[in-house]
Amino acid sequence: MLVLGIESSCDETGAALVRDGRYLLSNVVASQIEIHNRYGGVVPEVASRQQIAAIIPVVETALAQASCSWEDVDAIAATYGPGLAGSLLVGLTVGKTLALARELPFLGINHLEAHLYANWLRPQVDAAIAAPIPQEEWRYQSGDPLFPLICLVISGAHSEIVLVRDHGDYELLGRTRDDAAGEALDKVARVLGLGYPGGPAIQRMAQQAEDAYAQQKKSVKKARNVYRLPRAWLRGTYDFSFSGVKTAMLHLAEGATDAAHEHEDGKPSTQYTRYTRMGEQAAQTGAPDIALLAAGFQEAIVDVLAVKTRMAAQEYQVKQVILAGGVAANLSLRTRMLQELQPLGIRLSYPPIDFCTDNAAMIASAAFFHLSLGEHHGMDLDVQPGLSLPFRK
Ligand code: KG4
Ligand code: ZN
Repeated sequence: MLVLGIESSCDETGAALVRDGRYLLSNVVASQIEIHNRYGGVVPEVASRQQIAAIIPVVETALAQASCSWEDVDAIAATYGPGLAGSLLVGLTVGKTLALARELPFLGINHLEAHLYANWLRPQVDAAIAAPIPQEEWRYQSGDPLFPLICLVISGAHSEIVLVRDHGDYELLGRTRDDAAGEALDKVARVLGLGYPGGPAIQRMAQQAEDAYAQQKKSVKKARNVYRLPRAWLRGTYDFSFSGVKTAMLHLAEGATDAAHEHEDGKPSTQYTRYTRMGEQAAQTGAPDIALLAAGFQEAIVDVLAVKTRMAAQEYQVKQVILAGGVAANLSLRTRMLQELQPLGIRLSYPPIDFCTDNAAMIASAAFFHLSLGEHHGMDLDVQPGLSLPFRK
């Protein structure tokens, strides 16, 4: 079954063709990062207008790159939530209209669930050699993640630990009580002047700090602990809280900026707190300390995500953990998760970097599994900006 997937939930416009939920024929993503970088974050009104400009060329390019015609396509799927209403409307309307015009089945897809299904995608070279999957074998193919599994969903707006017993069977074990991990990374990066999106920028700066330490024959671990930032463990739960560590970072960054300013003026600082003192110290020693701050902050977030996910995997005795969402692209998190899980014999999988952040291949993949269950949607399907994963009650 060949599915055309369309993704437009935020600031990326994507179209992809995926066979049997796993084999990628094409994946096209038009990003608006440069535009939103000017504002330090996504401007919804700008995002939806850019979606309109990009979507038709993106769909046409996806078909061309897959060397497919409309006759080859079996179904069309588009994200209907969660996300920005204006952006979602563009992809959903285009998807429904194309399905109507081509008389194809249409399916609206939950963007978060699609992030999970990015773990079912194979490298593109496999598509050429893979035989079509017999319809009755849609549930499992060798190389797929194994149920039951624990999924750590970490995107710009979500941080959740989810027990997945089977396709479509989700139980929420824990969620963030305030900021999502990605949100905290984005906000802190903005304050540190590192631009948008924050996750990759923080990762780059942290890497600089670690490289500098390695060159001086000092341990990388030390670089991550120069600024020992607070962790909210919320023991006895699988919930997260990242607002405390974010606020600590904001104070540090503020202190750094204030101190830099005061030193330029030649005036002594009048107000000292623990944070401004640390910030002043950072400002005095110059740019490398921004890198050390980034390393400390990334470590604080990775620490909590990795330990709590490992604990959930142990409690529910799963053989597999998967990572899903933009923050799953983080190399430090991937390494740390491996360190937590390998000694326990628990398998870890995560999508290739390009399939962690928003893309349409994951939409087409998720659609295959729902279509195989006999589901589809009518033309009256509306966007649901606040949609969550369909958890069992
Ligand atoms: O899943 P995603 O592309 O969009 C949403 O559905 O929200 O996730 C975006 C988030 C942003 O917060 C971004 O900073 C973060 O993923 N991100 C990363 C990395 N790449 C993207 N965070 C940490 N390390 C990365 N390499
Ligand atoms: Zn996403």
